[in-house]
Amino acid sequence: MPNSKIGGLGYYVPSNVYTNHDLTQYMDTSDEWIQERTGIVERRYATKHKETPTTMGAAAARIAIERAGITKEEVDFIIFATLSPDYFFPGCGVLLQRELDITKTEIGALDIRNQCSGFIYGLSVADQFIKSGMYNNILLVGAEMHSMGLDYSTAGRNVSVIFGDGAGAVLLQATDKEEGILTTHLHSDGTYAEELAMINFGSHGGYHDDKDYGFSVTDKPGGTFVTTKMVEDGAYPQMNGQLVFKKAIVKFVEVINEALTKTGLEKSDIDMLIPHQANLRISQFVQKSMGLSDDQVYNNIQKYGNTTAASIPIALCEAWEAGKINSGDLVCLAAFGSGFTWGSTLIRWA
Ligand code: UT7
Repeated sequence: MPNSKIGGLGYYVPSNVYTNHDLTQYMDTSDEWIQERTGIVERRYATKHKETPTTMGAAAARIAIERAGITKEEVDFIIFATLSPDYFFPGCGVLLQRELDITKTEIGALDIRNQCSGFIYGLSVADQFIKSGMYNNILLVGAEMHSMGLDYSTAGRNVSVIFGDGAGAVLLQATDKEEGILTTHLHSDGTYAEELAMINFGSHGGYHDDKDYGFSVTDKPGGTFVTTKMVEDGAYPQMNGQLVFKKAIVKFVEVINEALTKTGLEKSDIDMLIPHQANLRISQFVQKSMGLSDDQVYNNIQKYGNTTAASIPIALCEAWEAGKINSGDLVCLAAFGSGFTWGSTLIRWA
């Protein structure tokens, strides 16, 4: 049975930098509050009408493909994770295929909707496809354009200051060696589905909470995924930040330990932990609970904010480019977010 290794990786962040101070133009917030609560100093925003998750994902993907030493025509499957897709449907997978100009190969394209855990979920799916022998070169992309869909008034400040735009990509390849992805672990608990969610866009019609979202109540077919009332109320993400924080710090540690137990490895064996960049305080809490040193954990949320499905591949690529990840290293990736969903993986770097 082949293993799967990361044969190439790349990232793209838009050039527009927005500091905490810049955000004070739009809402009642401060650099001090944002840095103290989240560690974020600045984030990048894509250029509207010119960039999308698909274009940013394609930019990251081109680098990953080149570094893997293959041609784009040799990619035999696409997996795309995002919560801010170009369209409600079709998903970004097929748009990326078109953007990369590889439609002639007619390869499959899968869209992942697991928000902050999207990259780990995608990695696990890719790993199983490679281990089963079905595919040899899988392109996995995580990309987000949060800036298009956030509330930049004071009412939305608890959510909007956290998120940033960007994309990361890896090219997963089959290998006969004892290297690459050692294990992956995926979890969810739908009890908390609405605690970090964007519900004002969909077909629920008030089913889950019996509220009036302005859907017409009639037996006749027809309607809309987004009603005028939803738009008036604010079609934005909602987040119970304190609950997410409390759950995250427990589940991050649990799922990392699960991966270590499965592989018989110790936390001291971890050369680099890359936690999903949700909040620097969460990463620091996880680091402290696990007794890891500063050089065992990589964070870059200070520069990019929380880029959801893109955060792990961007950080992974940056750490690798900086020479912080080398052949033979044990790399741990872990994520927690909306759903709630969470997951981890251990990788013996090829
Ligand atoms: O990828 C997973 C995604 N999400 C997360 O991981 C989020 C996890 N949670 C968090 O990171 C934190 O809960 C936040 C950073 C979102 C918020 O920090 P907090 O310490 O939990 O603040 P809070 O929501 O309890 O709000 C405290 C105060 C409130 O004011 P009052 O009621 O005490 O007067 C908020 O209105 O801070 C206020 N506040 C702000 N003030 C300035 C909330 N957002 C802001 C802001 N600027 N941006």
